[in-house]
Amino acid sequence: MSRREFPEGFVWGAATSAYQIEGATHEDGRGESIWDRFAKTPSKIEDASNGDVACDHYHRWRGDVALMKRLGLAAYRFSIAWPRIFPLGRGALERRGLDFYSRLVDELLSEGIEPFATLFHWDLPQVLEDEGGWANRSTVAAFVDYADAVSRCLGDRVKHWITHNEPWCASMLGYQTGRHAPGLTDWGAAIAASHHLLLSHGLAVPVVRANSRAARVGITLNLGPSVPASPSPEDADAARHFDGHFNRWFLDPLYRKAYPRDIVADYVERGHLDLSKVPLTDASDLEAIAAPTDFLGVNYYNRSVVRSDRIPEEKNLARSVHLAPESEWTDMGWEVYPDGLFETLVRLRAEYGVPKMYVTENGASYRDGPDAHGRVADDRRIGFVRDHLVAAHRAIEVGVPLAGYFLWSLLDNFEWDRGYTQRFGITWVDYATQRRVPKDSALWYRHVIEENAVE
Ligand code: FCB
Repeated sequence: MSRREFPEGFVWGAATSAYQIEGATHEDGRGESIWDRFAKTPSKIEDASNGDVACDHYHRWRGDVALMKRLGLAAYRFSIAWPRIFPLGRGALERRGLDFYSRLVDELLSEGIEPFATLFHWDLPQVLEDEGGWANRSTVAAFVDYADAVSRCLGDRVKHWITHNEPWCASMLGYQTGRHAPGLTDWGAAIAASHHLLLSHGLAVPVVRANSRAARVGITLNLGPSVPASPSPEDADAARHFDGHFNRWFLDPLYRKAYPRDIVADYVERGHLDLSKVPLTDASDLEAIAAPTDFLGVNYYNRSVVRSDRIPEEKNLARSVHLAPESEWTDMGWEVYPDGLFETLVRLRAEYGVPKMYVTENGASYRDGPDAHGRVADDRRIGFVRDHLVAAHRAIEVGVPLAGYFLWSLLDNFEWDRGYTQRFGITWVDYATQRRVPKDSALWYRHVIEENAVE
């Protein structure tokens, strides 16, 4: 394969999130989050595990930053646990929680690693959920206050901010399919949650900017092509609907000040949405949501191949639509489809005029573990990442303003409803000893970074 060089200054990073790696869920005054509650509810997590210890990053952060340094990372995307900062969601601030992130940021900067901080990666304080969580409009103001407190403290040093991670997952998996916390199965709540997540993003943007001089602020969405499984008109329509539900539902309000009309109509027709209850057309909400941002974060894992007979109620959406035959699959059961990253990035530029993008997550779950010599030969992960980097490079060549790439994930970690059954890390974590072993993919990635090129 030929050598493909990335533009000068291209940002090479890796990503994690708080609940998935930190552990220490009862330490330094941290409050309960919806993931603590959900994970301890029987039958919600595949291996009945939880994030109480996870990668113990809350105690091992210094070593983990040293690991990042060894891998040559230029940037690190992590998230802040809201319940560490406001254990009760709002009101009394827990200084010890803020101090943890402050120390982490200092350490990153002293190693020359640029921090990219995500404010919300799904661990909502449980007390806010008890009031209705994201389905309740009052959570919007609580989020803006939280964003204010965090950016006030870290804003002198953190210059890249991501308000939300994947609002589709937080709303639809959390409130509609019930596969994620808080585990509701209520369409009305899910749609309201999506609106409130977007609104809280838009209202937080100017607040973060005011606290963090010259900050770059954006949001991260999970996106991907939606294609029909057959040439039938029914499947074509199902693919249109899924694209609208998954991609356009978030992109249109962010970049066009309106929810997609076909999807609003579909939801109303299916009885999912009562327009008198959620102000989806409110001009001031829409204006706020479309607050100009500096970049869009793109999380890309796969495409969706959609069959009309599999999504009437979208109950088990994520599983039922990934039906591509004759493909390769990761251990997550996700199709390997690198072209989808190219297609997605090109579309964002062409249809939405996105001025700057980062791939804020991309990676694969493969269970390869240490051999007798302690080496982890995860060739499939190397192939996966290489093919996606080639796709990203093609997008840059045709003019997509892609500024960086964050591999998911730095460490094997708690993979939500799949518990510890999935390993996305470029570093193996031995959960019994908390030993970290860089996999072959980590060493390969270090070389990519050094060369600023993929071969
Ligand atoms: C994304 C999440 C991330 C991780 C990866 C595999 O949807 O943002 O936390 O779980 O999937």
